[in-house]
Amino acid sequence: MINETISRRQFLHRLGALGGAGITLGAMEALGLSACDSTQVDYRAPSPEDFSPKDGAGVSVLILGAGIAGLTSAYELEKGGYHCQLLEARARPGGRNWTARRGTSETALDGSMQACQFDEGLYMNVGPTRFPQHHTTLNYCRELKIPVHVFGNQNADAYYYVEGAGPPSTKRIRFRAVQADSLGHITELLAKAVNQGTLDQDLSAADKETLIEFLRSLGALTPQNRYQGSPARGYRAGAAPGAALQSGTIDTPLALSDLLALNTTGGAFNLGYFLAFQYEWEQAMPMFEPDGGIDAIPRALVRAIRGPIRYGVQVTHIENTANGVRVSYQDQRGQSGQIKADYCICTIPPQVLRRIPNNFSAQVNADLSVPIPINAGKMGLQFKRRFWEEDDRIFGGITMTNLDILQILYPSHGYLGQKGVLIGYYNYTPTADTFGALTPQQREQHALNQGSKIHGSAYRKEFETSFSNDWRKTRFSEGSWINWPPGTRGGPGTPYARLLEPAGRVYFSGDYLSYAIAWQHGAFESARKVVMDLHARVRASQPLQSNGTTASRRHP
Ligand code: FAD
Ligand code: ALA
Repeated sequence: MINETISRRQFLHRLGALGGAGITLGAMEALGLSACDSTQVDYRAPSPEDFSPKDGAGVSVLILGAGIAGLTSAYELEKGGYHCQLLEARARPGGRNWTARRGTSETALDGSMQACQFDEGLYMNVGPTRFPQHHTTLNYCRELKIPVHVFGNQNADAYYYVEGAGPPSTKRIRFRAVQADSLGHITELLAKAVNQGTLDQDLSAADKETLIEFLRSLGALTPQNRYQGSPARGYRAGAAPGAALQSGTIDTPLALSDLLALNTTGGAFNLGYFLAFQYEWEQAMPMFEPDGGIDAIPRALVRAIRGPIRYGVQVTHIENTANGVRVSYQDQRGQSGQIKADYCICTIPPQVLRRIPNNFSAQVNADLSVPIPINAGKMGLQFKRRFWEEDDRIFGGITMTNLDILQILYPSHGYLGQKGVLIGYYNYTPTADTFGALTPQQREQHALNQGSKIHGSAYRKEFETSFSNDWRKTRFSEGSWINWPPGTRGGPGTPYARLLEPAGRVYFSGDYLSYAIAWQHGAFESARKVVMDLHARVRASQPLQSNGTTASRRHP
């Protein structure tokens, strides 16, 4: 119990000064401020009032990169009165959080140029697009008043398409059918094993009975424990339940061997993977996305930040000095300059950062070379008619395939409209690199050929224009996200753990320094950790006054 004669602020200050950010953070949660814990139901982000008004006053922080991590750092630090300034190499905020719409243009590292020609109001999210309900991303949407809608990450009526396996009739199948048949066959096999006594060592007689009941419900088994199809898999064409006497005729289920044949190709992305996808920690429904494009998030952060953000400014040198940091840069006109600050938060991706000259230790530079950038590619295809809705009755969700396009994502907005943009491919290393080697026109033709296998002639007939991106060839990213090689991310002494500590007065932040890589959640959480670390350091170096505030002075 906190002594009521000390204020909440004094308490936090003392903990921060004595025990560092970890303790402060724990205490903040204990006090209901919940700085970082996205699993807490009554989440409340820290507000400016939670800081002593002068905590950060007079302390300057230079933030490198205006992606999610950089913008969040500034947004949170400003609540504590810090003076923040951001340098961003691109001409826009958001970094990998990027929405392409009419007017967007991009020149890749190989010199290829694309100008997005989507109709006004249509767009594609080139990087992130979805987030689950437990991610901090949703908390920021609430705090910044960003309207969101449900992102259809799963749709029973989307397709599962497999080439090179099974009888011809199983090439394109509704996801609901493959799902119901998988459950049906697996539960039947298990029921058979139970009935034959195979599991007698593991199950009591009572458990066996309960298990059989459970399997019957789960797999839609007959009283004889046979799977003969279930309404969940769908009905024969033109024979769905309907008016008067039309009770419906369930479509014939796949034979077990035909079902298993669907799993024989596709490598890691096989039937088992696709069936389990919808239960993943980060991919389970409901998922969300902001109205009008994912870049609503950085745009809202930019509106909320007071400090200057300089775009088109490339950091060229980072240096710790005796009592601060000095960063050199070059702007779009080729003019170079320098900025000094008390502290720096660097959110530049490691694969880019490691080429920027600095005076960090050899160990820090070695650690920055450890993460391995990987790749992802995406293409938005604009169609003049939403044939997937009109002809296939697919409203949002994903068609999974064993083709090199991997998946087709249908838009979760603009339903019943005339035109729409779907994602014609979204693939990863190594396939993404094969697509990346093609020209944008070649990618478009290939994506149309592959999509036509699933959606027939409408795919070409209704097509209007495309925009694609290869993340490895994207300036200032050079990859979609990174992988930590085995053993390099973990406890003390690993490169990951060392990079969580500042190099002098330079703090590193970004999704790569989190356990939610490839998620904005990771970038948000990394930024919040670094903000807390920096804040604790500043407070620890400032004398506490009797009224519980810190003395306002320039940080040494
Ligand atoms: P970045 O966004 O990379 O920010 C770094 C910033 O540094 C950039 O703005 C860059 O321009 C800038 N910079 C680089 N070099 C310099 C320099 N020399 N000088 C100055 N500035 C520089 N997340 C989700 O939540 N949901 C998803 O569905 C999802 N899907 C994804 C799909 C793809 C294809 C990709 C690529 C990412 C996806 N993510 C998703 C991950 C998400 O985009 C990232 O986790 C998050 O945006 C990372 O933010 P960041 O600030 O750490 O890094
Ligand atoms: N987080 C990224 C996605 O969901 C990889 O596509």
